[in-house]
Order: sequence, then C-alpha cells, then structure tokens
Amino acid sequence: MKILGIESSCDETAAAVVGDGREILSNVVASQVDLHKKYGGVVPELASRKHVEAILPVIDEALERAGESLETIDAIAVTQGPGLVGSLLVGLAVAKSLAYVRSLPWIGVNHIYSHVAAMFLAHGSSLCFPFVALVVSGGHTSLFRVSTPTQMTLLGRTLDDAAGEAFDKVAKFMGLGYPGGVVIDRLAREGNPAAVSFPRTLLEADSLDFSFSGLKTAVLNHLKEFEGNFSVSQIRDIAASFQEAVVDTLTAKVMRAARREKVKLVGLVGGVACNTRLREKFAREGEAGGITVLFPPPSLCTDNAAMVAAAGYHFLKEGRRGGLSLNAYSRFSADKQPFLSQSTPRSQT
Ligand code: KG4
Ligand code: ZN
Repeated sequence: MKILGIESSCDETAAAVVGDGREILSNVVASQVDLHKKYGGVVPELASRKHVEAILPVIDEALERAGESLETIDAIAVTQGPGLVGSLLVGLAVAKSLAYVRSLPWIGVNHIYSHVAAMFLAHGSSLCFPFVALVVSGGHTSLFRVSTPTQMTLLGRTLDDAAGEAFDKVAKFMGLGYPGGVVIDRLAREGNPAAVSFPRTLLEADSLDFSFSGLKTAVLNHLKEFEGNFSVSQIRDIAASFQEAVVDTLTAKVMRAARREKVKLVGLVGGVACNTRLREKFAREGEAGGITVLFPPPSLCTDNAAMVAAAGYHFLKEGRRGGLSLNAYSRFSADKQPFLSQSTPRSQT
C-alpha cells in the first residue's frame, strides 16, 4: 500500500510517499525556520499562510521523487493534531480534497503518534513490542508504552514546558537565535557540564511526569546575573550545564519507565532526540542497564511526513478511515488511547 503523508502541524510543510508503512519512497520537507527566525519563535498566522503557499508544490515534489502520482497512490494520511490549528487546517483541507476527488481512503493521525511511528520506519525489523517511547520535541515531552503499532498508553508527560521549548527559550535569552536546540548542542560540546549545578526536577519518586519550567527559570536567573556580559567560554559552560540537567532528567525518567514496564527496548523520537549528549548518555545508560536504546536518524526525528504515512498505514490496515467532517485539534488529549479517539471506525463513515 503506497501512502501519501502530509504534515503541517507547526513550521514545516512536509509530504512523503511510503510503501507498506516502512519503505520511504520520498520525504520532502519545506522548513519555515528562516521566516520565523527574526521573531524568535513560530508566528502562527505566518505559518498558516506559508503552508498555503508551500503545500501543493511540496506534495507534487514528493509524488514526483517517488515516481508516483495521485492516480497511483492508494491512500492519504494527514496530521490532524495536536499543533497550530490554522496550520493543521491547511494540511487537513488539502488531504480531504485530494482524497475526495480521487475517491481515496484517508486517515487523520495524531502528531505525537507519528513521531513514534518514525521507529517503525527506522527500526522496523529490530522492534519488539512492547517498548517504551519518549517523544521529546519543541511541543511535547511524553512517555508511552507502545504495545502494538496502534496501541500506546501514556505513562507520563510534561506538566509545563516541553524539553525542546526549554532549549529554545534558554537559547533565545542567551541571544543564540531560533531554534535553540541545535545551537546549544553545538556550544555545549566545548563546555563544562559540571560548571553550574542546575536543578533536576524529578517530582515524586515514582512519577513519570516531567517539569522543565523550574530548570528554565534557574538558567534565566543565572544568566541575569551576568547582565549580558558573558564570555564565550561562560556561554559554553552554561549551555553544557543546562543541557546536562535536561539529559539527566530525561534519562532518569525513561530508564525508570523501562524498569517499571519491564521492557528491554526504548525508542527516542522528536527533534530533541537529535541531541548529541542525549544520544551518548542514553546509549551508555542503556548498555549499563541491559536495555537497547534506538534512535531514528535526525531526518526522521524532526517533523516530517514519512512518519505520518507510516502511522497512517497501521490505522488504515485496521480499517479505520477519516470522514469528511473530521476536524483539527490543537491539544493533546490524555486519553488512554489518544490516537484512536479522533478517528472513526469504517462503519461510521
Ligand atoms: O520534532 P520537532 O521538529 O518539532 C516539534 O514537533 O516540536 O522538534 C523541534 C524541537 C525544537 O525545540 C528544537 O530546538 C529541538 O527540537 N532540537 C534540538 C536539537 N535539534 C532540534 N534540541 C536539542 N538538541 C538538538 N540537537
Ligand atoms: Zn513534532
């Protein structure tokens, strides 16, 4: 089954063609980073307008690179939420229209589930269920038990800022530009992670939830003491110390979840899963604890449409279909099966 995936939940307009939920035939991403950079973050109104301009050319390019057309693909999968509603509506309206004119089956997919589906693309043959997945991005920090390709249970989530959001806000405060994660990652390589002792918020002993706002405030307060006069080596040390606190917290929680769920496999996905130190530390801790840690390549960790097509494949295979009244949603629902609750069984469409 060849699926056209469409993603427009934030500041990337993306389309991809994926065969049988695992073979990437094309994966096109048009980033809006340059557009939003000067504002220090994503401006929702501008993002939606840019999606309107980019979406059809991006879909055309994805089909062309895959050697396919709307006549040869079998189905469409599109991000339904969570995300910026104006942006989601662009992708959703295009997906519905294409599916309608071509009488194609289609499905609306949860963006967080799609991040997990990057694991199916990158590590399909080495995946054994159940496993624990951490989705760590600019908008989300959530932990799941993944029981089957369509069954995931939420184990914990951030109570305030997402980890990537903390990276972006700290970088903005240091004048390092947007998005901040990559810059902090680079600077931290030359810095001392033990230079400043920033807090690790682990909440109660058995909690699998996260909180990054205390850490973010601690870094911002520390930065204020310099009144803007820090040397390059001080910036590197602060970046390394902040990053170490985030990585320590994520590692502790994910390993706690793996032990509690008695699983031997952990997957890390989302933009922050590209982080060099995070990958290093998880690989080491995993080895020490007898847990295999897998990360999709960076191009599948950040927002893309191949993961959307891979996610959609499994729901479509179960006979689920989107209906023409399906709407976008902005927030994550902490429902036990959040990915099934927004799509309708075939009998109702
Ligand atoms: O998954 P993604 O592309 O979009 C969302 O769904 O949010 O993630 C973007 C986030 C941004 O906050 C960015 O700063 C962060 O991922 N990020 C990183 C790295 N690369 C991207 N954070 C830390 N280290 C990185 N290397
Ligand atoms: Zn994302």
